[in-house]
Amino acid sequence: MSEMIDEIVAEGMAAIAAAGDERALRDVEVEFLGKKGKVAGLMQEMRNLSAEERPAFGKDVNIAKQTLEKLVVAARRTLQTATLLKEVSDPFDDPTLPGTAELHGGLHPLTIVTEEVEEIFRSMGFIIPDYPEAESEFFNFEALNIPGDHPARDTQDTFWLKDGNLLRTHTSPGQVRAMREFKPPFKAIFPGKVYRYEAIDASHEHTFHQVEGILIDRDVSVANLIHSMKVLLDEIFKRESVIRLRPGYFPFVEPGFELDIQCAVCGGSGCSVCKQSGWVELLPCGLIHPNVIRHGGLDPAEWTGWAFGLGLSRLVMMKYQINDIRHLMGGDLRFLEQF
Ligand code: DAH
Repeated sequence: MSEMIDEIVAEGMAAIAAAGDERALRDVEVEFLGKKGKVAGLMQEMRNLSAEERPAFGKDVNIAKQTLEKLVVAARRTLQTATLLKEVSDPFDDPTLPGTAELHGGLHPLTIVTEEVEEIFRSMGFIIPDYPEAESEFFNFEALNIPGDHPARDTQDTFWLKDGNLLRTHTSPGQVRAMREFKPPFKAIFPGKVYRYEAIDASHEHTFHQVEGILIDRDVSVANLIHSMKVLLDEIFKRESVIRLRPGYFPFVEPGFELDIQCAVCGGSGCSVCKQSGWVELLPCGLIHPNVIRHGGLDPAEWTGWAFGLGLSRLVMMKYQINDIRHLMGGDLRFLEQF
Protein backbone atom coordinates (compact mmCIF):
# COMPACT_ATOMS: atom_id res chain seq x y z
CA MET A 1 0.00 0.00 0.00
CA SER A 2 2.81 2.42 0.74
CA GLU A 3 3.96 1.94 -2.86
CA MET A 4 0.69 3.44 -3.95
CA ILE A 5 1.46 6.50 -1.84
CA ASP A 6 4.97 6.79 -3.26
CA GLU A 7 3.63 6.53 -6.78
CA ILE A 8 1.14 9.33 -6.29
CA VAL A 9 3.74 11.55 -4.65
CA ALA A 10 6.14 10.94 -7.54
CA GLU A 11 3.40 11.61 -10.06
CA GLY A 12 2.39 14.79 -8.20
CA MET A 13 5.94 16.08 -7.99
CA ALA A 14 6.41 15.62 -11.73
CA ALA A 15 3.11 17.37 -12.49
CA ILE A 16 3.98 20.31 -10.21
CA ALA A 17 7.37 20.69 -11.84
CA ALA A 18 5.80 20.57 -15.30
CA ALA A 19 3.14 23.25 -14.59
CA GLY A 20 4.23 26.18 -16.78
CA ASP A 21 1.99 28.85 -15.31
CA GLU A 22 -0.22 29.55 -12.31
CA ARG A 23 -3.32 28.27 -14.00
CA ALA A 24 -1.75 24.93 -14.83
CA LEU A 25 -0.43 24.72 -11.29
CA ARG A 26 -3.92 25.34 -9.93
CA ASP A 27 -5.21 22.44 -12.06
CA VAL A 28 -2.50 20.15 -10.70
CA GLU A 29 -3.35 21.23 -7.17
CA VAL A 30 -6.99 20.32 -7.70
CA GLU A 31 -6.07 17.02 -9.33
CA PHE A 32 -3.92 15.88 -6.41
CA LEU A 33 -4.98 17.85 -3.35
CA GLY A 34 -8.60 18.72 -4.14
CA LYS A 35 -11.59 17.26 -2.30
CA LYS A 36 -11.94 14.56 -4.94
CA GLY A 37 -8.24 14.52 -5.75
CA LYS A 38 -5.80 11.64 -5.78
CA VAL A 39 -4.62 12.11 -2.19
CA ALA A 40 -8.20 12.09 -0.94
CA GLY A 41 -8.60 8.91 -3.00
CA LEU A 42 -5.80 7.31 -0.98
CA MET A 43 -7.75 7.96 2.21
CA GLN A 44 -10.62 6.00 0.75
CA GLU A 45 -8.26 3.03 0.46
CA MET A 46 -8.09 2.83 4.26
CA ARG A 47 -11.34 0.91 4.23
CA ASN A 48 -9.50 -2.01 2.64
CA LEU A 49 -6.90 -2.18 5.43
CA SER A 50 -6.92 -4.01 8.70
CA ALA A 51 -7.30 -2.04 11.93
CA GLU A 52 -3.57 -2.46 12.71
CA GLU A 53 -2.44 -1.19 9.32
CA ARG A 54 -4.63 1.89 9.29
CA PRO A 55 -2.72 4.32 11.63
CA ALA A 56 0.60 3.93 9.79
CA PHE A 57 -1.06 4.29 6.42
CA GLY A 58 -2.97 7.37 7.52
CA LYS A 59 0.24 8.93 8.77
CA ASP A 60 2.01 8.27 5.45
CA VAL A 61 -0.84 9.74 3.44
CA ASN A 62 -0.67 12.86 5.60
CA ILE A 63 3.06 13.20 5.03
CA ALA A 64 2.49 12.75 1.29
CA LYS A 65 -0.20 15.43 1.40
CA GLN A 66 2.00 17.92 3.24
CA THR A 67 4.91 17.23 0.88
CA LEU A 68 2.81 18.00 -2.17
CA GLU A 69 1.26 21.06 -0.53
CA LYS A 70 4.67 22.53 0.22
CA LEU A 71 5.80 21.87 -3.34
CA VAL A 72 2.72 23.61 -4.74
CA VAL A 73 3.33 26.68 -2.55
CA ALA A 74 6.98 26.84 -3.60
CA ALA A 75 6.15 26.36 -7.28
CA ARG A 76 3.52 29.09 -7.11
CA ARG A 77 6.00 31.53 -5.64
CA THR A 78 8.52 30.71 -8.36
CA LEU A 79 5.94 31.23 -11.10
CA GLN A 80 4.79 34.54 -9.62
CA THR A 81 8.34 35.81 -9.41
CA ALA A 82 8.93 34.81 -13.02
CA THR A 83 5.82 36.69 -14.16
CA LEU A 84 6.91 39.76 -12.25
CA LEU A 85 10.44 39.61 -13.65
CA LYS A 86 9.05 39.28 -17.14
CA GLU A 87 6.82 42.32 -16.64
CA VAL A 88 9.55 44.60 -15.37
CA SER A 89 12.00 43.50 -18.05
CA ASP A 90 9.44 43.97 -20.88
CA PRO A 91 11.17 46.23 -23.45
CA PHE A 92 7.81 47.75 -24.39
CA ASP A 93 6.89 48.64 -20.84
CA ASP A 94 8.67 51.92 -20.17
CA PRO A 95 7.80 53.25 -16.70
CA THR A 96 9.17 56.69 -17.65
CA LEU A 97 6.47 57.20 -20.33
CA PRO A 98 3.64 59.64 -19.49
CA GLY A 99 0.47 57.93 -18.22
CA THR A 100 -2.79 57.58 -20.12
CA ALA A 101 -4.79 60.77 -20.33
CA GLU A 102 -7.66 61.34 -17.94
CA LEU A 103 -11.16 61.30 -19.38
CA HIS A 104 -12.84 64.69 -19.41
CA GLY A 105 -16.51 65.48 -19.77
CA GLY A 106 -17.64 67.71 -22.61
CA LEU A 107 -20.69 69.61 -23.75
CA HIS A 108 -23.32 67.81 -25.78
CA PRO A 109 -23.52 69.15 -29.38
CA LEU A 110 -27.11 70.22 -28.69
CA THR A 111 -25.92 72.27 -25.73
CA ILE A 112 -23.13 73.85 -27.78
CA VAL A 113 -25.50 74.94 -30.54
CA THR A 114 -28.23 76.04 -28.10
CA GLU A 115 -25.74 78.29 -26.36
CA GLU A 116 -24.59 79.72 -29.70
CA VAL A 117 -28.17 80.42 -30.79
CA GLU A 118 -28.99 81.99 -27.41
CA GLU A 119 -25.96 84.24 -27.65
CA ILE A 120 -26.98 85.48 -31.12
CA PHE A 121 -30.51 86.29 -29.97
CA ARG A 122 -29.45 87.81 -26.69
CA SER A 123 -27.18 90.22 -28.57
CA MET A 124 -30.21 91.26 -30.63
CA GLY A 125 -32.25 92.06 -27.54
CA PHE A 126 -34.32 88.88 -27.20
CA ILE A 127 -35.29 87.58 -23.77
CA ILE A 128 -35.06 83.83 -23.08
CA PRO A 129 -37.80 82.55 -20.78
CA ASP A 130 -38.26 78.86 -19.95
CA TYR A 131 -41.59 77.06 -20.35
CA PRO A 132 -42.83 73.66 -19.18
CA GLU A 133 -42.34 70.41 -21.11
CA ALA A 134 -45.42 68.89 -19.45
CA GLU A 135 -48.01 71.19 -20.96
CA SER A 136 -51.78 71.54 -20.90
CA GLU A 137 -53.93 70.68 -23.88
CA PHE A 138 -55.04 74.29 -23.86
CA PHE A 139 -51.60 75.83 -24.40
CA ASN A 140 -50.34 73.11 -26.73
CA PHE A 141 -53.40 73.15 -29.04
CA GLU A 142 -56.44 75.30 -28.16
CA ALA A 143 -54.62 78.57 -27.54
CA LEU A 144 -52.70 78.05 -30.78
CA ASN A 145 -55.91 78.02 -32.79
CA ILE A 146 -55.85 74.21 -33.08
CA PRO A 147 -59.36 73.15 -31.92
CA GLY A 148 -60.23 69.61 -30.81
CA ASP A 149 -61.50 68.40 -34.17
CA HIS A 150 -58.74 70.07 -36.16
CA PRO A 151 -56.79 67.76 -38.51
CA ALA A 152 -53.51 69.30 -37.31
CA ARG A 153 -53.91 67.33 -34.08
CA ASP A 154 -53.49 64.12 -36.06
CA THR A 155 -50.19 65.24 -37.51
CA GLN A 156 -48.78 65.76 -34.05
CA ASP A 157 -49.16 62.39 -32.41
CA THR A 158 -49.00 63.14 -28.75
CA PHE A 159 -47.74 61.53 -25.54
CA TRP A 160 -50.63 62.04 -23.13
CA LEU A 161 -50.03 62.10 -19.40
CA LYS A 162 -52.31 60.35 -16.90
CA ASP A 163 -53.45 63.68 -15.44
CA GLY A 164 -54.82 64.84 -18.81
CA ASN A 165 -51.81 66.99 -19.62
CA LEU A 166 -49.35 66.11 -22.36
CA LEU A 167 -45.69 66.32 -23.32
CA ARG A 168 -45.55 69.41 -25.51
CA THR A 169 -45.38 68.48 -29.17
CA HIS A 170 -43.71 71.78 -30.06
CA THR A 171 -42.30 74.87 -28.37
CA SER A 172 -45.13 77.02 -29.78
CA PRO A 173 -47.24 76.98 -26.55
CA GLY A 174 -44.60 79.40 -25.22
CA GLN A 175 -45.94 82.02 -27.66
CA VAL A 176 -49.15 82.42 -25.69
CA ARG A 177 -47.39 82.06 -22.34
CA ALA A 178 -44.92 84.79 -23.33
CA MET A 179 -47.68 87.15 -24.49
CA ARG A 180 -49.39 86.69 -21.13
CA GLU A 181 -46.14 87.17 -19.25
CA PHE A 182 -44.46 90.15 -20.93
CA LYS A 183 -45.67 93.62 -21.80
CA PRO A 184 -45.50 94.29 -25.56
CA PRO A 185 -43.55 95.21 -27.56
CA PHE A 186 -41.11 92.39 -26.79
CA LYS A 187 -39.10 89.67 -28.50
CA ALA A 188 -38.27 86.30 -27.02
CA ILE A 189 -36.89 82.88 -27.86
CA PHE A 190 -37.50 79.70 -25.89
CA PRO A 191 -35.39 76.65 -26.72
CA GLY A 192 -36.36 73.23 -25.44
CA LYS A 193 -37.23 69.59 -25.79
CA VAL A 194 -40.38 68.51 -27.58
CA TYR A 195 -41.98 65.08 -27.87
CA ARG A 196 -43.86 63.22 -30.59
CA TYR A 197 -45.31 59.77 -30.43
CA GLU A 198 -44.02 58.56 -33.77
CA ALA A 199 -41.99 55.90 -35.55
CA ILE A 200 -38.31 56.76 -35.42
CA ASP A 201 -35.82 56.68 -38.26
CA ALA A 202 -32.72 58.61 -39.39
CA SER A 203 -34.69 61.87 -39.47
CA HIS A 204 -37.44 61.30 -36.86
CA GLU A 205 -37.09 61.02 -33.09
CA HIS A 206 -39.71 60.87 -30.34
CA THR A 207 -37.69 63.47 -28.44
CA PHE A 208 -36.04 66.37 -30.20
CA HIS A 209 -35.21 70.05 -29.81
CA GLN A 210 -36.70 73.25 -31.13
CA VAL A 211 -36.18 76.95 -30.57
CA GLU A 212 -39.34 79.01 -30.77
CA GLY A 213 -39.01 82.70 -31.50
CA ILE A 214 -41.61 85.44 -31.22
CA LEU A 215 -41.71 89.16 -31.79
CA ILE A 216 -44.69 91.27 -30.78
CA ASP A 217 -44.97 94.84 -31.94
CA ARG A 218 -47.25 97.21 -33.86
CA ASP A 219 -47.55 96.83 -37.66
CA VAL A 220 -45.33 93.78 -38.10
CA SER A 221 -45.29 92.77 -41.80
CA VAL A 222 -44.32 89.75 -43.91
CA ALA A 223 -41.36 91.76 -45.27
CA ASN A 224 -40.26 92.28 -41.68
CA LEU A 225 -40.61 88.56 -40.96
CA ILE A 226 -38.61 87.41 -44.01
CA HIS A 227 -35.86 89.92 -43.39
CA SER A 228 -35.56 88.88 -39.74
CA MET A 229 -35.37 85.18 -40.63
CA LYS A 230 -32.66 85.82 -43.22
CA VAL A 231 -30.57 87.80 -40.74
CA LEU A 232 -30.99 85.01 -38.18
CA LEU A 233 -29.84 82.26 -40.49
CA ASP A 234 -26.86 84.24 -41.77
CA GLU A 235 -25.84 84.79 -38.14
CA ILE A 236 -26.30 81.15 -37.25
CA PHE A 237 -24.38 79.80 -40.25
CA LYS A 238 -21.86 82.66 -40.23
CA ARG A 239 -22.30 83.08 -43.99
CA GLU A 240 -24.95 83.91 -46.55
CA SER A 241 -27.21 80.87 -46.34
CA VAL A 242 -29.04 79.44 -49.36
CA ILE A 243 -32.74 79.44 -48.49
CA ARG A 244 -36.05 78.70 -50.14
CA LEU A 245 -39.45 79.97 -49.08
CA ARG A 246 -42.70 78.05 -49.57
CA PRO A 247 -46.18 78.70 -48.30
CA GLY A 248 -46.84 76.52 -45.25
CA TYR A 249 -49.97 75.94 -43.22
CA PHE A 250 -49.89 76.17 -39.45
CA PRO A 251 -53.13 77.12 -37.66
CA PHE A 252 -51.36 79.62 -35.38
CA VAL A 253 -49.89 81.77 -38.16
CA GLU A 254 -51.40 83.52 -41.16
CA PRO A 255 -49.76 83.68 -43.60
CA GLY A 256 -47.44 80.79 -42.75
CA PHE A 257 -44.23 79.77 -44.48
CA GLU A 258 -41.87 76.86 -44.71
CA LEU A 259 -38.37 78.19 -44.84
CA ASP A 260 -35.96 75.60 -46.17
CA ILE A 261 -32.20 75.76 -46.15
CA GLN A 262 -29.93 74.00 -48.59
CA CYS A 263 -28.66 70.81 -46.91
CA ALA A 264 -25.20 71.37 -45.50
CA VAL A 265 -24.50 67.65 -45.09
CA CYS A 266 -24.59 66.91 -48.82
CA GLY A 267 -24.40 70.45 -50.20
CA GLY A 268 -27.74 70.01 -51.94
CA SER A 269 -26.99 66.82 -53.87
CA GLY A 270 -29.25 64.64 -51.70
CA CYS A 271 -28.64 62.47 -48.61
CA SER A 272 -30.55 60.77 -45.79
CA VAL A 273 -30.74 63.98 -43.73
CA CYS A 274 -32.59 65.87 -46.47
CA LYS A 275 -34.40 62.74 -47.73
CA GLN A 276 -32.53 63.08 -51.03
CA SER A 277 -34.16 66.45 -51.76
CA GLY A 278 -31.15 68.69 -51.15
CA TRP A 279 -33.24 70.88 -48.84
CA VAL A 280 -33.99 70.72 -45.12
CA GLU A 281 -37.11 72.22 -43.56
CA LEU A 282 -35.48 74.25 -40.88
CA LEU A 283 -37.52 77.31 -40.07
CA PRO A 284 -41.30 77.24 -40.34
CA CYS A 285 -42.59 80.71 -39.56
CA GLY A 286 -45.39 83.21 -40.09
CA LEU A 287 -47.37 86.16 -38.82
CA ILE A 288 -49.14 85.27 -35.60
CA HIS A 289 -52.85 84.54 -36.09
CA PRO A 290 -55.21 87.10 -34.49
CA ASN A 291 -56.87 84.31 -32.46
CA VAL A 292 -53.52 83.45 -30.89
CA ILE A 293 -52.84 87.10 -30.10
CA ARG A 294 -56.24 87.16 -28.45
CA HIS A 295 -55.44 84.04 -26.37
CA GLY A 296 -52.30 85.87 -25.31
CA GLY A 297 -54.50 88.52 -23.78
CA LEU A 298 -53.67 91.15 -26.41
CA ASP A 299 -55.87 93.06 -28.86
CA PRO A 300 -55.06 91.94 -32.43
CA ALA A 301 -56.23 95.33 -33.69
CA GLU A 302 -53.34 96.88 -31.82
CA TRP A 303 -50.69 94.14 -31.64
CA THR A 304 -49.18 92.01 -34.39
CA GLY A 305 -46.20 89.71 -34.46
CA TRP A 306 -44.20 86.99 -36.09
CA ALA A 307 -43.15 83.60 -34.80
CA PHE A 308 -40.81 80.86 -35.94
CA GLY A 309 -40.04 77.32 -34.83
CA LEU A 310 -36.38 76.53 -35.52
CA GLY A 311 -35.59 72.83 -35.81
CA LEU A 312 -32.64 72.79 -33.44
CA SER A 313 -31.91 69.07 -33.82
CA ARG A 314 -31.73 69.48 -37.58
CA LEU A 315 -29.54 72.52 -37.22
CA VAL A 316 -27.10 70.54 -35.06
CA MET A 317 -27.10 67.71 -37.59
CA MET A 318 -26.27 70.06 -40.43
CA LYS A 319 -23.63 71.90 -38.50
CA TYR A 320 -21.78 68.72 -37.48
CA GLN A 321 -22.75 66.67 -40.54
CA ILE A 322 -24.57 64.06 -38.47
CA ASN A 323 -26.65 61.85 -40.72
CA ASP A 324 -28.87 60.15 -38.13
CA ILE A 325 -30.96 62.10 -35.60
CA ARG A 326 -30.98 59.07 -33.26
CA HIS A 327 -27.34 59.79 -32.38
CA LEU A 328 -28.38 63.01 -30.62
CA MET A 329 -30.34 61.43 -27.77
CA GLY A 330 -28.76 57.97 -28.02
CA GLY A 331 -26.24 58.54 -25.24
CA ASP A 332 -23.49 56.60 -27.01
CA LEU A 333 -20.15 57.80 -25.63
CA ARG A 334 -18.34 56.89 -28.84
CA PHE A 335 -20.51 59.51 -30.55
CA LEU A 336 -20.40 62.10 -27.77
CA GLU A 337 -16.63 61.96 -27.28
CA GLN A 338 -16.19 63.47 -30.74
CA PHE A 339 -17.33 66.90 -29.56
N1 DAH B 1 -44.80 74.40 -34.01
C1 DAH B 1 -44.59 73.98 -35.36
C2 DAH B 1 -44.17 72.51 -35.37
O1 DAH B 1 -43.59 72.05 -34.45
C3 DAH B 1 -43.51 74.78 -36.02
C4 DAH B 1 -43.86 76.20 -36.25
C5 DAH B 1 -44.42 76.57 -37.43
C6 DAH B 1 -43.60 77.18 -35.30
C7 DAH B 1 -44.71 77.89 -37.72
C8 DAH B 1 -43.91 78.51 -35.55
C9 DAH B 1 -44.46 78.84 -36.79
O2 DAH B 1 -43.68 79.47 -34.67
O3 DAH B 1 -44.73 80.16 -37.04
O4 DAH B 1 -44.40 71.85 -36.34
